[in-house]
Amino acid sequence: MTATVAPPAPSLDRIADPELHADGDPHALWRWMREYSPVHRHEAGELPAFWSLTKYEDIRAVYRDPATFSSARGVLLRPARLGDDPGGGLTLALSDPPRHKELRSLMADWFSTRAVRGLEETVRATAHKVVAQGLEQGTVDFVDLAGRLSLSVICGVIGIPEEDHAAVHRWTDEAFAAHTSLAAHPRLMEYFMELVYARMAEPTDDLVSSLVNGTVHGELLSEHEILLNCENLIGATENGRLALIGGMLAFLQHPDQWRRLRQDRALLPGAVEEIVRWTSSATHSMRTATRPVTVRGQRVDAGDRVVLWLPSANRDEDVFDDPYRFDIARRPNRHIALASGEHFCIGSTLARAEMRALFTELLDATDAIEQAGPVTRVRSNAVNGPAALPVHLTPTSRATAGPGTR
Ligand code: HEM
Repeated sequence: MTATVAPPAPSLDRIADPELHADGDPHALWRWMREYSPVHRHEAGELPAFWSLTKYEDIRAVYRDPATFSSARGVLLRPARLGDDPGGGLTLALSDPPRHKELRSLMADWFSTRAVRGLEETVRATAHKVVAQGLEQGTVDFVDLAGRLSLSVICGVIGIPEEDHAAVHRWTDEAFAAHTSLAAHPRLMEYFMELVYARMAEPTDDLVSSLVNGTVHGELLSEHEILLNCENLIGATENGRLALIGGMLAFLQHPDQWRRLRQDRALLPGAVEEIVRWTSSATHSMRTATRPVTVRGQRVDAGDRVVLWLPSANRDEDVFDDPYRFDIARRPNRHIALASGEHFCIGSTLARAEMRALFTELLDATDAIEQAGPVTRVRSNAVNGPAALPVHLTPTSRATAGPGTR
């Protein structure tokens, strides 16, 4: 801490206001909080009372202590009138050890490095297809382009037949556009129910079949639990889609970094990590304290909600050199955009594979990518990134066999 007199506090309760995340500058608030109030108490209003944590080390320590900081009452802020998350204890994200470990082991094989290696060809082929469609259109909303890739990949893992991907994509978009949970979309839930019954009758080699046949504490999962876990997987994919779109926007805003990647493809894995840090598309995780505990000198009581702001952790000046610089060669880059500890993102390897595939395809197939209209941002305190990103794709001169320059 360098300053002795703090500048006037900004309106810190706005940190959970979706409007701030859509139209304002949450980073200015987080920066202030890291410096002057890194463990900050917000009193109850429309939201229940909660603590905001903004420093990297504090957030990492909470993630790594699930006995003290439970996920079972919900991992996202919800209006106080709605109470705890009804999925508590039923889904992977909303379970605590030891149940969490058993549930996770039912799904882990589908997201392992080995499994993703097996999927890489499909991911690349899908990236090729969505970019080719984008090139045909010329000008395209990158939100749609990235969404077709990430949704189609997760649908394949879950076991949704290819002919149904477009419908699932449409229902998912409708639910997000209406700011409702996926569980509130009747057709989507009906569809999953049919899928679960089909796999109960005849299991195949897919994730739903693993959930249908797997046991936790020696008991089969209920249909409701299977359904909620499928819904959660589709919902969690939104983070991956937003990271892809946010990554594209970062390159548009930092064309020198795109040129650098064009010149040296070996930078791609590092570029992916920097995109994940830079976008930090999961804006917060919430935990509930199970016992009184002191965090950076503040007493947090049992039952208190603790909100971990990930984009803030990933701009922490104590951990990252020049944290507001987008640098695809950044090293080290120990971001915690994908969490840490037991709940470390199960889809992280898949998300990285999608990013590598999409940006490789864009490098191969385009000579230029330009922004073709205004960017809007998602109105949410749970996820962040562009809600619209119109871009114009110019095919490579090799592809068009025309003259063209780079
Ligand atoms: C760059 C993209 C992504 C980011 C930034 C991200 C971020 C996160 C974070 C922060 C968590 C921890 C949540 C918590 O415990 O409160 C998490 C967990 C999770 N993520 Fe991701 N995620 C991404 C991509 C994906 C994808 C593509 C999938 C789908 C396969 C996915 C599925 C999950 C699931 C199922 C969990 C719960 C894991 C558990 O509780 O054990 N994520 N993710």
